[in-house]
Amino acid sequence: MNEIDRPDHGRIDSRRITGFADSLASSLDRQMKHAYRPEGQKKQRLFSARELTDLTGISASNLRLRHNEDPEFPPFESDARGHRWYTAETMDRIRDHMFRTAKNGEAFRPGRREGDSLQVISTVNFKGGSGKSTTAVHLAQRYALRGYRVLAIDMDPQGSLTTMFGYRPELEFSEHGTVYDALRYDELQVPISQVIRKTYFHNLDLAPGGLALAEYETTTAYALTRKIVPSFAQRLTFQLDEVEKNYDLVIIDCPPQLGFITLSAIAASTGLIVTVVPSMFDVASMSQFLKLAGELFETIEQLTNRPVSWDFLKFLLTRYEPSDAPQTQMAAYLRSILAGHVLTEPMLKSTAISDAGITQQTIYEVEPGDFVKKTLERAVTSMNAVGDEIEQLIQNSWGRN
Ligand SMILES: Nc1ncnc2c1ncn2[C@@H]1O[C@H](COP(=O)(O)OP(=O)(O)O)[C@@H](O)[C@H]1O
Ligand SMILES: [Mg+2]
Repeated sequence: MNEIDRPDHGRIDSRRITGFADSLASSLDRQMKHAYRPEGQKKQRLFSARELTDLTGISASNLRLRHNEDPEFPPFESDARGHRWYTAETMDRIRDHMFRTAKNGEAFRPGRREGDSLQVISTVNFKGGSGKSTTAVHLAQRYALRGYRVLAIDMDPQGSLTTMFGYRPELEFSEHGTVYDALRYDELQVPISQVIRKTYFHNLDLAPGGLALAEYETTTAYALTRKIVPSFAQRLTFQLDEVEKNYDLVIIDCPPQLGFITLSAIAASTGLIVTVVPSMFDVASMSQFLKLAGELFETIEQLTNRPVSWDFLKFLLTRYEPSDAPQTQMAAYLRSILAGHVLTEPMLKSTAISDAGITQQTIYEVEPGDFVKKTLERAVTSMNAVGDEIEQLIQNSWGRN
């Protein structure tokens, strides 16, 4: 009988906690090895003609015309009912084809052009559950589907973003393989390209997170006393410089603390999304977060002797329920205080988002048949609107609109 099975009457000492941990760890390990298939059970789904027109910007009539009259146009797959389906790769081939042959070809290539700099966007807040990871993964997937080359970086030791991509951080990256390998201060440091992995999602790569990242907090404190350069304020930036030509966008998911991990991500960012649930508690906690972040960045600027600035910092209302009176009041209050810095589009609270999350999926991945159609559509519409509004900010940073 192991520690956990034995009924317990005495006091709990610290060895007991270790006992719980050991029993759980070995049991979880067995379970996960059993459930986990190394070839990766996650696979990207196909997209309907309607989704294709939404994601690429080609009109339905033009699409039909191209299929009928353009022998070079990438073909669709059809199902038994005669519906047209497209893979994510085909969507990209269609974009390329339109880029080369359409009158307004440029419009089909939304990513960076000559002279445009890499956009790095972090989701931040020290409130857990404010929707940072949910926002990060949906933005990353949405932009990959829109034809951007995206790198998602999981900076959270909890590794929830990594889990969404079908990995088991506690099994696969317990010591090596996380983005910490690229940030560490000792001889084990590697270029970030060595930890970046392709995902099953076309156009979307991942630098995984996991428990090892937690070490960055303590090693950074030590490195600061030793004046090791580059300091945390530039470490991630320099690593990204090495791979920047491969991507249009980097989306970073931050942990729910304002430690060196989050500060490093913020310092490497060109844009920030502060996720906030419009409730009194959450807003109070966010206000503290901003105060602390502001003070810390003043110190960082003195330290590095260079100003830190971003193309944009926007507040995103998350888990928003328009039918909840206190929430709508708080949302209106935030909009009046923070004026144009709150995104117009909120991310609605939806059971589609939380239910999909249970099986490590986003609402862009789930099979529509598994959900109530209206619920899913409402969530997707809200998420798309958020993504589109931020996409506009990205395009503005590149001098387009
Ligand atoms: N808009 C939403 N509607 C419903 N559930 C949501 C929504 N956003 C997030 N959630 C759920 O809330 C939980 C916490 O969200 P998460 O994104 O992990 O927060 P954070 O990363 O800030 O800690 C998750 O279980 C997620 O599925
Ligand atoms: Mg998170």
